[in-house]
Amino acid sequence: MNFNPLKEKGLPLEKQIRTWHDIAHRKFNKNDVNCYTRTRQILMNGIEVEAWNFKHNMARVCNHEDTLEFLAQTKRIEDAQQSTINWLAPSDQSVLETTLGYEQVAVDLTAWLAQNEPDPYVKETFDFGLLEDFDHLYRYAQWAYMVHGIEPDDIVQHQTDVMIGRPTQHHHNCNILRLRRAYDKSKASPQTKVNILTVLSGEQQTHNYYGEHGFEYGNELLRETYAEIKDVEEEHVTMYESLIDPTESFYEKLLMHEFTEVCTYHNCMEDELNDDIRAIWEQFLDIEINHLKTASELFKKYEKRDPEEIIGETVVHPCHFESQKEYVSKVLEKEVDKRLAKDKGYQYIKDIPDDWASYKIQDISGKDGAPSENTIRSIAVQQGKDIVVTSDKMRDKIPELMERGLQEKSLAPDTVKVDEYKKYHK
Ligand SMILES: [Fe+2]
Ligand SMILES: [Fe+2]
Ligand SMILES: [Fe+2]
Ligand SMILES: [Fe+2]
Repeated sequence: MNFNPLKEKGLPLEKQIRTWHDIAHRKFNKNDVNCYTRTRQILMNGIEVEAWNFKHNMARVCNHEDTLEFLAQTKRIEDAQQSTINWLAPSDQSVLETTLGYEQVAVDLTAWLAQNEPDPYVKETFDFGLLEDFDHLYRYAQWAYMVHGIEPDDIVQHQTDVMIGRPTQHHHNCNILRLRRAYDKSKASPQTKVNILTVLSGEQQTHNYYGEHGFEYGNELLRETYAEIKDVEEEHVTMYESLIDPTESFYEKLLMHEFTEVCTYHNCMEDELNDDIRAIWEQFLDIEINHLKTASELFKKYEKRDPEEIIGETVVHPCHFESQKEYVSKVLEKEVDKRLAKDKGYQYIKDIPDDWASYKIQDISGKDGAPSENTIRSIAVQQGKDIVVTSDKMRDKIPELMERGLQEKSLAPDTVKVDEYKKYHK
């Protein structure tokens, strides 16, 4: 469907200020919310955090008075949108329940983006990141069960598999290797640009959430698991942001940020099942159309170019959520043993040279063991088996996937080996 936001009216700036009640009072019920309403809520919080952060960064390097005025007025609007969306989560939703929601976002969003990404190199990067978040979901699911007795399907509602992916202890790289090749801003499609900014905002917010909440449980091993996975999310932010052409001007970036907000809200509005929450997406879409129109005027004035050259004439769909089990399984079977290479490419375990820069990081950080592996031991001690939710077909493949995915050279001392793991499934 064609929806050209520049041709829409939008909500005038003076009508965007809301009451404290309107900003803070709405919330969903964790027991009956659809899992994809929750993933939209988690993602859109990340989108607003990025919008707000970006505007502050731009304001610090900008000396155009009219732009500064626009930024000053809309930063607080983005901020209030963030409060409304983040605070939709009810107070009885635990940190670990929310965490499963975050990783479900990462898996199902990235899978959607990968299948709708026109640039094959960017797609490959999405597939690569996807398998790491997939493994995080499995590790956190053990903790949600151990600490709160939460079954993964209480949160992911049968839409997302929970099983081992590329093992988390192998996600720790020399961060230089995470740097990818940037797209060329004059050639990349609006879809590619919006896709990257969307997943980047989600990953950044995931990182921030683990940083803000990972210490809230008393259990030492759980704290360490949050620290370990938070560090991987830092790598993901580094990886996805490096795909963006660094020569884009601040005005071009401003345009892309507002356009990404428009596209994501539009997508949320079209997909939303909950009437109360759809009303929020609609209202916020209207707000973003207004922001985008002003950003376009500023772009024309200072860059002397047509904004449609950058954003095109219609919205893209960067955040449609639906079950991606089949796609994720395919990527898992194909790429569980894939790793980063130093030429900004990828390689398989069998081709990794002895001087691979990530070994150094893995040897140091994994010296006392990997919390993500100890997690599996803990659940085995407590329950006699780990928590896995997948089809029988995929379950049967776990030992083989483990064997391929584990990189012998840098295994942490307490790694659960294939034979031991097999016992959990007897
Ligand atoms: Fe916003
Ligand atoms: Fe993750
Ligand atoms: Fe991630
Ligand atoms: Fe905005």
